[in-house]
Amino acid sequence: MAKRFGPLAPLFAMTCGLLLLAGGHFALGQEAEGEDTTDAVPYAMPKSGPFSPSDIEIQNNQAISDWFRSGHADAASEAFSHWDEEEVVNPVCATCHSGEGFRDFHGLDGTPAGSVEGPINTGGVVDCGTCHNPGLAGIREVAFPSGLMHPVEGVEAACMTCHQGRTSGKDVEAATADRDLDTPSADLRFINPHYATAAASWLGGYGGAGYHYAGKEYSGRFFHARPVSSCNSCHEPHTLEIEFDTCLTCHEASSVEEIRIARQSYDGSGDLSKGIRSDIQANAAVLMALIEDYTRDIAGAAFVYDSHRYPYFFADANADGLADEQDGQPVAFSSWTPRSLRAVYNWKLIAADPGNFAHNPPYMLELLHDSIEDLSGSLGQDVQDMGILR
Ligand code: HEC
Ligand code: HEC
Ligand code: HEC
Ligand code: HEC
Ligand code: HEC
Repeated sequence: MAKRFGPLAPLFAMTCGLLLLAGGHFALGQEAEGEDTTDAVPYAMPKSGPFSPSDIEIQNNQAISDWFRSGHADAASEAFSHWDEEEVVNPVCATCHSGEGFRDFHGLDGTPAGSVEGPINTGGVVDCGTCHNPGLAGIREVAFPSGLMHPVEGVEAACMTCHQGRTSGKDVEAATADRDLDTPSADLRFINPHYATAAASWLGGYGGAGYHYAGKEYSGRFFHARPVSSCNSCHEPHTLEIEFDTCLTCHEASSVEEIRIARQSYDGSGDLSKGIRSDIQANAAVLMALIEDYTRDIAGAAFVYDSHRYPYFFADANADGLADEQDGQPVAFSSWTPRSLRAVYNWKLIAADPGNFAHNPPYMLELLHDSIEDLSGSLGQDVQDMGILR
């Protein structure tokens, strides 16, 4: 693949798309024919080659413009520009943060599979050749952070690789096992599941992304309903938007947020007219409030949460609602106990997936219930009295 195309990455990718589609198949050339796309024309044509515009099908143009407006093509987003100063993408991160890194990881560029050899240049996005690489068909399973090898077919291999998050409940277990549950330790660090963890949600307890409490059973993969059981049965693969008309063949709702099948109220409100998303959000808010109460009353330390700043939880010794600062920088919260670390991990895992209610509502509700139960018990409250169901 091209080793240098800087800010023109989307253009490069599009040109490849045109080349490969005009050629009648999806194979991405090994040569970087797109490298001379110097003028910023959205639908740049290759300057040479046996192709002519008339060979290019209309639907291809549609795919390109749909993709171009999606997050996958947004070269300026934090997800793709984070490494700009270093000028190469850290190999540990490149698999999911660049099409070039993805191909390297899966060995689709001729290098060994299972690792990124690099160097992977900045400027890459989730380009056409990420999902339309013929080598994708040869990927039969994708490894998840829990160690699970999940069988995949076709383009699923792509979505499952990048949207799986970076941690599992096992990481939390390893950090917290064999310690007193309610003793804070500065060496317990917040474990961040990463972002857009749709595939991890989707696989549920079988994928093992969440922290599983001892003695509890967790729902596995969310099979939903047969015709809508893959990422692209709900998401248009180029715009990435939800095809809401599809939902309406089975659900009655005016938006995805309002979809509900469940006949019980999980959040104790008794309101069955709102979408299942509301139950999940309500219980997530209850859990966060409990984590705050617990850290203040039992761990003896307050924190503030800042959703925009890693590592999200900051020390607030005088409990004034503002993060403590040292040398102008907020101080990371460092009074986690095993009990609060487990709960906050589950809370963040759920928050990391804005589509959690569609990807796996039972699993989300189970993780929330069990985390709430665990914390409320040590605060002398009863999850049953709160009306929270599992
Ligand atoms: C398993 C795939 C995967 C790996 C590995 C990975 N990421 Fe990500 N990362 C993602 C996805 C998917 C998103 C997109 C989230 C979104 O913005 O919707 C993301 C988003 C981000 C963001 C943007 C967060 C924001 O608030 O917008 C940063 C920064 C980031 N990752 C840093 C890293 C770093 C640093 C590494 C390596 C140490 C890394 N990632 C490794 C999948 C991954
Ligand atoms: C995130 C993965 C992904 C990326 C990136 C992607 N595609 Fe696709 N594309 C798909 C999938 C999946 C299908 C099959 C859709 C179906 O079967 O309905 C598809 C189908 C197509 C089709 C057939 C017509 C259609 O729209 O369904 C064309 C043409 C196409 N892609 C071109 C492109 C081009 C050109 C690019 C880059 C600009 C691109 N794709 C990027 C996943 C992707
Ligand atoms: C090479 C890694 C990679 C692959 C493969 C990939 N994604 Fe993504 N996806 C990302 C990253 C990174 C982002 C965040 C982009 C951003 O913030 O601009 C993202 C964003 C998204 C979003 C949020 C859309 C938005 O506009 O913010 C959806 C939905 C999504 N991907 C679905 C899918 C589906 C479905 C597939 C498989 C057909 C897929 N992705 C394949 C890395 C990937
Ligand atoms: C049953 C339908 C359905 C399936 C199947 C599905 N999703 Fe989603 N997904 C949704 C809904 C609904 C949302 C919330 C989006 C919204 O409100 O716009 C969402 C949100 C997302 C987001 C976050 C988008 C954002 O705005 O940041 C990502 C990423 C994503 N899905 C990826 C995937 C991947 C990858 C798969 C396959 C493993 C998948 N989805 C399977 C329905 C689905
Ligand atoms: C073929 C019929 C069908 C289609 C189409 C369909 N669904 Fe579903 N959906 C179901 C069934 C059946 C369930 C219950 C599954 C279960 O609980 O195991 C369900 C459950 C759900 C739930 C969880 C509701 C709850 O109360 O637990 C959500 C959210 C959801 N679907 C979203 C969507 C979205 C978004 C779409 C469109 C992109 C969609 N569905 C399309 C049949 C369908």
